Amino acid sequence: MLKFETVIDLNDHLEKLRKEGFKIGFIPTMGALHKGHLSLINRAKEDNLISVCSIFVNPTQFNNPDDLKNYPRTIEADITLLESVTCDVLFFPSVREIYPHPIKTFFNFGRLETVMEGAFRKGHFNGMATVVNRLFEIVKPDFAYFGEKDFQQLTIVKMLVKMQSLPIKIIGCETLREEGGVAMSSRNIHLSPKEREDALIISQTLFKAKELAKTMTAQELKSWAINNLTTNPSSELEYFEIADAETLQPISNLKASTSKIRAFIALKMGKTRLIDNLEL
Ligand code: PAF
Repeated sequence: MLKFETVIDLNDHLEKLRKEGFKIGFIPTMGALHKGHLSLINRAKEDNLISVCSIFVNPTQFNNPDDLKNYPRTIEADITLLESVTCDVLFFPSVREIYPHPIKTFFNFGRLETVMEGAFRKGHFNGMATVVNRLFEIVKPDFAYFGEKDFQQLTIVKMLVKMQSLPIKIIGCETLREEGGVAMSSRNIHLSPKEREDALIISQTLFKAKELAKTMTAQELKSWAINNLTTNPSSELEYFEIADAETLQPISNLKASTSKIRAFIALKMGKTRLIDNLEL
């Protein structure tokens, strides 16, 4: 695997590959890699692309300075994992390399960014879109891979590509789960064994909600889920939402909706904030 820290060196290398006719599959990450990330790299490789993974803990998408400070950083282990799946290129830039000038971009994703994560993490999606846009400008991928665990992020990135008219195909990949069902996440590192056990309630609620959606109304389902998710005093539910998978707007009638519906959860387990979602 080739490793680059500067835009100029990465560009030189990728330009040569493009001239030889190779297509690029990009997997942006913030590191603390797990099998979910590796599955995205494998997917790019299966699609016969040069796999480029970036590791950059983006300060502009954190609305809480402690969250940024405590975000897991495990670069040596990450490199070993990337090599185990024969990732072709790692881009590991500094903050200055990504943001050489003061940031002036401001994106407006309308109602996509006012709900769920957008409502609970002010400015998060603007920061996320700013860095993804910058990374797209640097890597110029043909395809980019994002996990469905961050479903709202995936939807907003698709919107970003449309708004900026970028020639990039965004591929959403299914969430990988640990044994028992907890969605894989870099943040799981922070969970104590007890919290990890307690976190099972999130995926269990989602899978049961999928079943109950066949017979319950949206209101009944929401009350059942909220009840289920608020019994543990060491966890704090931020939201349980049933929403349209395209517009991300809350759904009040499960039967009337013509598009796909997903259930979304954000919950703090101790100090660790976890999110998950599932198609109903
Ligand atoms: O999902 C993430 O890890 C981040 O939000 C991303 C897409 C790498 C942007 O910093």
